[in-house]
Amino acid sequence: MTGVAVYKQGWGLDDVHWSLFEADKVAPGLLAAVKAAALVEYNAPDYVTYLKRVFADAGQATLDAIEQWGREEAQHGKALGRWAEMADPEFRLDEAFARFRKGYTPPHFSGDSAQSVRGSRRGEMIARCVVESGTSSYYSAMRDASEEPVLQEIAGRIAADEYRHYKLFYDTLHAQPEPDLSFWAKLMIAIGRVRESDDDELAYAYYCANVPASQEAVLPYNRKKYSRASAATSMAIYNRKHIQKLVQMVVKAVGADPHGWMANMMGAILWRRMQSKTA
Ligand SMILES: [Fe+2]
Ligand SMILES: [Fe+2]
Repeated sequence: MTGVAVYKQGWGLDDVHWSLFEADKVAPGLLAAVKAAALVEYNAPDYVTYLKRVFADAGQATLDAIEQWGREEAQHGKALGRWAEMADPEFRLDEAFARFRKGYTPPHFSGDSAQSVRGSRRGEMIARCVVESGTSSYYSAMRDASEEPVLQEIAGRIAADEYRHYKLFYDTLHAQPEPDLSFWAKLMIAIGRVRESDDDELAYAYYCANVPASQEAVLPYNRKKYSRASAATSMAIYNRKHIQKLVQMVVKAVGADPHGWMANMMGAILWRRMQSKTA
């Protein structure tokens, strides 16, 4: 159950070796990160509804793949939530998730437009590739940072799923009959999606996951404060090699060389920016 294990698709909660849990190896920073990540992952059904609208006539195989993807994301939320409940008996995934749902719904989830907010299906797939690049590198970093064996296993399983999701969306991107986007259009979509990481989703998930309902009155939500707390928690988990991998995957999705100058430059810029956000 180390980082070298190879985890296949299609695992379930019963496959996780929960009995190996070691409470004294739970790191508080990782626990805060896991709680927040659980809420974001558990929110996947809304993304499924939206993606199925955008790809409504793309064929049954694509729609099935979107459904399967959503099931896997929701399971990530359940696995992380169960681990967090073991590590902190006061934490309740369902309770924290209900608060998150109440306060956070992106506008494109509640509408009924079949048009992607990224302008096209190809744009949508590039944005998804960015997200899966981020999650695959994040859970790899979490796996490497954890000394607690069950979290190592869960993060390893999830990181492998996220990498497969990236491949699914990368292949779907290239399977679209739409004309290819220009390199700059692709790059702008990718940068736009990376920037959205600053939006309410992560900060508010961090807040709902880590500030109990009983303390809401004394510790009200403040986007800047919790965005910073969320970024600081992530930065303590990431190291430079995970960020480089993330950037390489994004650069590949926009059609450039993942080992070329652009990837190196963007890796350095992103790393510096992430560090400055926590200062
Ligand atoms: Fe996930
Ligand atoms: Fe994913």
